Amino acid sequence: MKIAVGADHGGFFLKEAIKKFLEEEGYEVVDVGTYSEESVDYPEYGYRVAKLVADGEVDRGIVMCGTGIGISISANKVKGIRAALVTNEYMAEMAARHNNANVLAMGGRVITPEIGKRLVKIWLTTPFDGGRHQRRVNLISRIEEGKLEKGV
Ligand code: RB5
Repeated sequence: MKIAVGADHGGFFLKEAIKKFLEEEGYEVVDVGTYSEESVDYPEYGYRVAKLVADGEVDRGIVMCGTGIGISISANKVKGIRAALVTNEYMAEMAARHNNANVLAMGGRVITPEIGKRLVKIWLTTPFDGGRHQRRVNLISRIEEGKLEKGV
């Protein structure tokens, strides 16, 4: 499985730890930056990862900034992306089981690298439940297409 990782300066330290962890676990990693703690703008990195996932260049993406908020908002602007910001194991599990999230977002100033690795492992190894959750994911796609009726 090929995974893109991207972060701003606030998520840089966490990205480095996650990248190393993924490589140790046998995943192929595409690192879109940033490559230092110098201040950069998170939308650029959220977009780079999201675009690779949306275009099918990689299987999944992981985005990180200080809180995980800005970069998850940015990634979610790309059609086809379901980026889930997670801070604990339950959220990481549900991001996979219920939301079929294709991008995981985390905050480098919110969680430790050790917790981050656990969340990534849970998200990558938990299957999507499908069923009623597939219907809900389909509704998200309809919002993107502008086809969801008012009041639904
Ligand atoms: C950068 O200081 C910080 O705003 C950014 O990393 C992130 O937390 C934004 O949501």
